[in-house]
Amino acid sequence: MKKRVLSGIRATGRLHLGNYLGAVKGMIELQNNSEYECLYMVADAHTITTPYNPQELKTNQKEIIIDYLAAGLNPEKSTLFIQSQISEHFELAYYFSSIVSIARMQHLPTYKEKVKQYPKNNTMALLNYPVLMAADILVYKANLVPVGIDQEPHLEVTREIARKMNQTYGTNFPEPKRFSTPGEYIPSLKGEGKMSKSVEGSYINLTDSIDEIRKKIKSIPTATISGGPITGGVKTLFLLAKLFLKESDYQKFKDEYHQGILKFVNIKNAVAEAIYQELKPIQEKRSQIAQNKDYVEKVVKNGAERAKTIASQTLKEVKEKMGLR
Ligand code: TYM
Repeated sequence: MKKRVLSGIRATGRLHLGNYLGAVKGMIELQNNSEYECLYMVADAHTITTPYNPQELKTNQKEIIIDYLAAGLNPEKSTLFIQSQISEHFELAYYFSSIVSIARMQHLPTYKEKVKQYPKNNTMALLNYPVLMAADILVYKANLVPVGIDQEPHLEVTREIARKMNQTYGTNFPEPKRFSTPGEYIPSLKGEGKMSKSVEGSYINLTDSIDEIRKKIKSIPTATISGGPITGGVKTLFLLAKLFLKESDYQKFKDEYHQGILKFVNIKNAVAEAIYQELKPIQEKRSQIAQNKDYVEKVVKNGAERAKTIASQTLKEVKEKMGLR
């Protein structure tokens, strides 16, 4: 039997470069490896754990599927689906919640950050976020999860839940590992923290034009004189250069920097151009797919059928082991 892969992205808006480099690139790599069966979802139920607009969520569910297809996920190879359409995720999350302590969830850095960001929104759903994520993964008995490094604490919880379920009830959940990419952590363009949708000015959208990309890359804070330790905005710039430029060009800029002769405008222009060249075909494909609503509907419908088949089998097993059927 093939090993399984599961990943998801919240439907908070259009994808940014961090999502693409940290998650989608790994998703594509695994999809093209015949050793794996891949399932990729839109984590719409995780989107409601922080304040949101229902109308926008409804639109974004499909927008993420379109982004997936445009970036290179292929429904002939991967199962693409919408999380909330597979009710087994929520049922399993509830069963899992019976073996997870409240204290463990309250101590997670991801939970603390969100509470700080939205103090009026300290809800049960937010506290339960990692338990639902564990259910997303384990309902398919996935072994590998392509996500950015920020998701590692959630994978640790997933492994703990798998172990505890196996010990307590004799289930056979795997202990899933993160599949990482060279872009597993993309810093903010502001030179501090990570690239994030919730921080204005920190990100590049996959749909940005060359002018927008140039403007955003130019805004990365850099010193006027090059040389010295590579930190802050300069570090961000060199990471993007490493990920998008030819190795020889990257080395040339780095050497110039250390010699103190680098003109930041040159590396910024080169990086902006290279990012756009990678995004351009994705943008072109996106506008074609966006016109074909029926096709997108079909992809999601087929995806839900496949996902449901696997998920309902796992639920049957878990309910039997737990004395619920
Ligand atoms: P979300 O929507 O916050 O992020 C989606 C993916 O993008 C990655 N990512 C980054 N990678 C590198 N650098 C960055 N600056 C950056 N910002 C975001 C995230 O690591 C993630 O891979 N909890 C998940 C959604 C989810 C999920 C799942 C994922 C729900 N259930 C089951 C895997 C398996 C999340 O926060 O996505």
